[in-house]
Amino acid sequence: MELTEVVTSRRSVRAYKKDTTVEQSTIEEIIRFAQEAPSWKNSQTGRYYVAISPEKVAAVKEKSLPEFNQKSCADAPVLIVTTFVKNRAGFDREGNADNELGNEWGAYDLGLQNELLTLKATELGLDTLIMGIRDGEALRAEFDIPDTEEVVAVIALGYRDNEPEKPKRKDVEAIVKFF
Ligand SMILES: Cc1cc2nc3c(=O)[nH]c(=O)nc-3n(C[C@H](O)[C@H](O)[C@H](O)COP(=O)(O)O)c2cc1C
Repeated sequence: MELTEVVTSRRSVRAYKKDTTVEQSTIEEIIRFAQEAPSWKNSQTGRYYVAISPEKVAAVKEKSLPEFNQKSCADAPVLIVTTFVKNRAGFDREGNADNELGNEWGAYDLGLQNELLTLKATELGLDTLIMGIRDGEALRAEFDIPDTEEVVAVIALGYRDNEPEKPKRKDVEAIVKFF
């Protein structure tokens, strides 16, 4: 698939085919690709906690997702919890923030990585749903995520069971100012 085709065919999918699985090697391939993203001083602070056993997937859904997100990923076979190591991206070696954004740079880098993750999944015929509405502390407990990491999104991975509409995008004129 060409880049443009991958980007335009990716959708947030909220209905997944039942009784499917995704090989661990495929998930590794997707995350390896995501690692190609640029990052602050190449700090590569993104981390992944992947629920693949049906028991763990069910636990993540029940304990950390609101009902509407549970429904959206009800039959997704994989849930990927993404975090970043704090106080590195956006910080100097002494631990001082390089500018006013501080740890927001860690979230920025993780977003770059996760976009590649979703695009690679699309290229491989898989679908995703990034979920930012989740209980971070429940996820921390479920995966024993250390306090040195910020819990960010849960990404459902699986095979679409419907054809979602593309939500409208703003016109370029509405978001750009040239000087
Ligand atoms: C950071 C982030 C958090 C999101 N959180 C949720 C969520 O909790 N639940 C949900 O259904 N969709 C969530 N979405 C999906 C967006 O609603 C979706 O990307 C947007 O409507 C555009 O649709 P598209 O992804 O199909 O292009 C999230 C997307 C992003 C990037």
